[in-house]
Amino acid sequence: MQQYRTRSCGELTKKNEGKRVILSGWVNSRRDHGGLIFIDLRDRYGLTQITFDPKISKESWELANKIRNEYVIRIKGKVILRPNDMINSKLKTGEIEVRVENIGVLSESKTPPFEVEEIDGIDKAKDVKEDLRLEYRYLDIRRKKMRDNLKVRHKIIKFIRDYLDQKDFWEIETPSLTKSTPEGARDFIVPSRLHQGKFYSLPQSPQQYKQLLMVGGIEKYFQIARCFRDEDQRGSRQLEFTQLDIEMSFVTQDEILNLMEDMIIRIVEKLSDKEIMFKPFPRLNYDDVMKKYGVDKPDLRYNLEIEDISDIVRDCDFTVFSGAVKNGGVVKAICAKGAAKFSRTYIDKLTGYAKELGANGLAYIVIKENELQSPIVKFLGDDLSQKIIKQMKGEPGDIVFFGADREQIVRDVLGQIRIKLAEKLNLIDDNNKLAFAFVVNWPLFEEELENGHYAPEHHMFTMPHEDDLSLLTSNPGKARSYQHDMILNGQEVAGGSIRIHNRKIQEKIFDLIGFTDKRKKSFEHMLRAFEYGPPPHGGIAMGLDRFIMILRDEADIREVIAFPKSGDGKDLTMGAPSEIEKEQLDELGIKLKKS
Ligand code: AMO
Ligand code: AMP
Repeated sequence: MQQYRTRSCGELTKKNEGKRVILSGWVNSRRDHGGLIFIDLRDRYGLTQITFDPKISKESWELANKIRNEYVIRIKGKVILRPNDMINSKLKTGEIEVRVENIGVLSESKTPPFEVEEIDGIDKAKDVKEDLRLEYRYLDIRRKKMRDNLKVRHKIIKFIRDYLDQKDFWEIETPSLTKSTPEGARDFIVPSRLHQGKFYSLPQSPQQYKQLLMVGGIEKYFQIARCFRDEDQRGSRQLEFTQLDIEMSFVTQDEILNLMEDMIIRIVEKLSDKEIMFKPFPRLNYDDVMKKYGVDKPDLRYNLEIEDISDIVRDCDFTVFSGAVKNGGVVKAICAKGAAKFSRTYIDKLTGYAKELGANGLAYIVIKENELQSPIVKFLGDDLSQKIIKQMKGEPGDIVFFGADREQIVRDVLGQIRIKLAEKLNLIDDNNKLAFAFVVNWPLFEEELENGHYAPEHHMFTMPHEDDLSLLTSNPGKARSYQHDMILNGQEVAGGSIRIHNRKIQEKIFDLIGFTDKRKKSFEHMLRAFEYGPPPHGGIAMGLDRFIMILRDEADIREVIAFPKSGDGKDLTMGAPSEIEKEQLDELGIKLKKS
């Protein structure tokens, strides 16, 4: 067998002048110039220009005439310097070319359904329909952008493995065929052939296994874990995604956060050119976050805070405001700097959006140099209007927006309006910045449900705050927990907690969630494990795809996954999901309902 290559397409420079080399790769592009043929040859490492001169090898030149883009060829030739005016300073190999003496075609290619060639950093497939890219993902992956994303992904995972190994963690695999591991989504179910009528679930996360590993005395565990959740897909969600999953014994919440912070800072500094805005990462109280930003994962790259003005408007003549406060609600405001240039149409659009979110309206005051434009100043009166503006630090050119209602509605509405305002006002002027923070001191449960039960804010294995244990009986909705989230540029990139390691507390939580005896029984393995010396433990899991997506400036998680599911949950490359043979169904004892 002939040797395919002695060098890659990304490494030859003028230092190699005169050397004979063998290269293999794909034909990126081909140009005919008065008898000479130029080909950009591409492999994973880069591009090298190769030239065919009929005077050097007639046979090779004739063959080069026939080859097309994406053919795979092997060439042998001599490295020569390019003439000065032909040097391409954008390419590492831009000073040289290889004069071909011999060529072989290793495989041919049809004309690809979209252009994959890369020319001076222009991404030609940018506007190609994504479904087509996914169907031909192997061609899509030939593009530099995809290749770079996958390379960085590999480097990050390698870094994590080395880092955690140094810190004494063991990487341990946990099963994919398992029992329901609820993380708030629907399970993917796998029928069992050996035990007909029974089913495995694919794990939504390795949560229970990693806790059992702690009971098993492993102390420091991690896994690059595949998780499966049958939920609606969005830009930052996939049915199947990867977590960096971590669990530790004898650990405090601070120690978990410190570890993550140190590792993340090192990853960013080594493997991306982005800039971390706040070091150390701020540790924010859930309540403060919700008050200031109205959402639990605020984008901290900009300062735009919501303020409570209930006290100032409590007794005013504008009944929408005073009424809200009297009925136990709140009035909050947000001052949008420079928003006075908004058109009336846009303000109406924002109001419409607020109404969609459940508000009755979106009152506002436009602050002009000599006047206030507003549908509510006539009710508030000049003095009160000025007082509010002063409180909100409003200046000519700004708009103050208001929400008046129950606390939760105002919070949700202004939280979303805040995000819209930031987009419209271009408050994120620098995509290079990363605003990380941890959110701590979460409530243990979301609001009480109508049936008197509670839904866990994180998951049911999260430890209540030790000072709030008695609240589990008196007022569970008020209990805080040891949950911690890591947020980044307005997204939740990691979540975790200190865990319950006590059978009684765990049972109490099951009761509060409203588990039936049958459901409780299906978690008996956890309860039993807690009877055999479980160490105190806790951990965290980071959405790797999401984190890498932000590091790579991608708007969609699919851009950093080799073979992602399409928006409607299909693997378009393989054509899954698909029907299966009747024999397979019979073996499983499954009969399909007519759809
Ligand atoms: P949680 O459910 O918060 O916690 O998940 C942890 C992180 O995983 C990412 N993530 C997703 N990424 C892509 N697509 C999805 N569908 C998706 N769902 C979640 C997010 C999220 O922050 N077992 C716990 C962790 C723990 O308590 O240690 C868990 O899975 O970035
Ligand atoms: P109205 O008196 O109902 O016409 O409302 C006057 C202004 O207050 C309009 O700009 C409405 O959008 C706004 N508005 C009405 N209800 C609320 C509310 N609950 N919160 C904030 N603004 C409101």
